[in-house]
Amino acid sequence: MANLAYACRFDRDLKWRTGAEIVPVHCTSANGFRVTRSALDDAYRRAQKRRLRIKGVLITNPSNPLGTAVPRADLEMIVDFVAAKGIHLVSDEIYSGTAFSEPGFVSVLEVLAARAPLAADYALDDRVHVVYSLSKDLGLPGFRVGAIYSSNAAVVSAATKMSSFGLVSSQTQYLLAALLGDKDFTRRYLAENKRRIKERHDQLVDGLKEIGIACLESNAGLFCWVNMSHLMHARSFEGEMTLWKKVVFDVGLNISPGSSCHCSEPGWFRVCFANMSAKTLDVAMQRLGGFVQTSSCKAAPAALRRAAGPARSMSCPLAMNMKWALRLTPGFADRKAER
Ligand SMILES: Cc1ncc(COP(=O)(O)O)c(C=O)c1O
Repeated sequence: MANLAYACRFDRDLKWRTGAEIVPVHCTSANGFRVTRSALDDAYRRAQKRRLRIKGVLITNPSNPLGTAVPRADLEMIVDFVAAKGIHLVSDEIYSGTAFSEPGFVSVLEVLAARAPLAADYALDDRVHVVYSLSKDLGLPGFRVGAIYSSNAAVVSAATKMSSFGLVSSQTQYLLAALLGDKDFTRRYLAENKRRIKERHDQLVDGLKEIGIACLESNAGLFCWVNMSHLMHARSFEGEMTLWKKVVFDVGLNISPGSSCHCSEPGWFRVCFANMSAKTLDVAMQRLGGFVQTSSCKAAPAALRRAAGPARSMSCPLAMNMKWALRLTPGFADRKAER
């Protein structure tokens, strides 16, 4: 069972090779996509109905794709749930170093530590596992370095045996030891990294607001969870795919549709902001703004458009001028190359 909307890549990483099944825990916009006890119970029942052997709950904290750190109260509730069901909890904390504003990141290990005697009673120490990698916080996905924190002897033994298929090169270990051994550098790096992530996050949120697009309030991650449902021609997953294709092929922006993360409400998209300059994000916002303008012109009542005639259609100058204006802008060829 995995908290929704869960990282698109979990299907590929966890299901395809192992034959394991992932049952999404459905969360909705009504409470900001937070996991609730009833959503967990519902997913548990659905898994039982399918006669699956339920092994555990998988969460990403901070969440991919939501960009939110899981509140302590929600972690408590999830830990209570796995304790009651006698199942495992895997917490993917790969984005823990990105939490840029309050309430900050709380690891499930802190929650366990705070209830230490109780955790031992339920053998939770043995059933809660944390996974981490340097790919996000340090921007080193190519290094292929990660870690599993677990007190479970079977998990540690299996991970140790499997690790021989992905050993980290001596050169990589040498470089990382020097990098991470410098405490002053890591402290300053993390602080500066969070500052820059917040800056770019705010730029995206403000830019989207200006063109009438809202997002889920977020405080972590490298992306925002954006509501574009009003731009769909139909409130369905088909409508979501049609909109996604337009944004990818016509607008030239690569965003992820919520359905690829098993979101049950059509119209939500994950928009990454952290891997681009402020200038590039500006261009993206201009293009999206033009698209929104055209879409709202098309969505205007047909009668109004007929009555207005050709002169009225000129009232969407931004959209119409968008393409040639961008062509006239110096550096457009460079940006085209970025696409
Ligand atoms: C939640 C989550 N976990 C794990 C990964 C895998 O990261 P990597 O294999 O680069 O360490 C990703 C990457 O996108 C992710 O978003």
